[in-house]
Amino acid sequence: MFITFEGIDGSGKSTQARLLAENLRTLDHTVVLTREPGGTELGERVRDLLFGLDGRHWDPTEQALLHYAARSIHLRKVIRPELRKGNIVISDRFHDSSWAYQWGAGNIRKDLLSTLDSHVLGGTVPDMTILLDLDPEECPGRLTYRLPEDGNHFDHRSPLWFQGVREAYLERARLHSERFYIVDASQSIEVVADTILHMVREKIDEQC
Ligand code: TYD
Repeated sequence: MFITFEGIDGSGKSTQARLLAENLRTLDHTVVLTREPGGTELGERVRDLLFGLDGRHWDPTEQALLHYAARSIHLRKVIRPELRKGNIVISDRFHDSSWAYQWGAGNIRKDLLSTLDSHVLGGTVPDMTILLDLDPEECPGRLTYRLPEDGNHFDHRSPLWFQGVREAYLERARLHSERFYIVDASQSIEVVADTILHMVREKIDEQC
């Protein structure tokens, strides 16, 4: 079972991915918790390239290419081998992030992302994608503004910019309704965690 967490920055994905991993381990499942960009040593270096001091120089197409390079090795070295062993893989972000950020907010061409998906994913798509949905205009305090090693990297990220990301996520969810599960991220951490655990247990039971 391959489960991905998606949502705008500040939606609580990382906390919820960790809680789900802990809850499933309590139920005796073997779980690998990983993240993008990152998940491998080289992938973490790509993350540094994207978010380090010089990260602001990449345009959205270049960002996408870097994300997919990291994604490719992540799939090859971690995700596919762990799935083959029968383990549950939980990834904090995956390809839907590229659609939401580089296409939804960055306006890169859809056909570039479709081509990258077909070459890089090669059919390894999530069984479940949990979208932690948050309205950036209702919860501006929750938005996180990454990185300010240089004081202003990503300062352009306004609630309106995040709205573009959110709308792209919701469109992905409509298009891929068989794997998307939308959860209202404005609820408490405990309620969100219980909702997600319930959904995942149902899906595991279905697959058995
Ligand atoms: P992340 O580490 O998930 O932080 P947060 O917990 O704040 O969401 O964020 C990584 C950033 O990278 C986030 O702003 C989304 C962005 N990103 C993309 O733009 N494209 C991608 O394909 C991925 C995986 C992430």
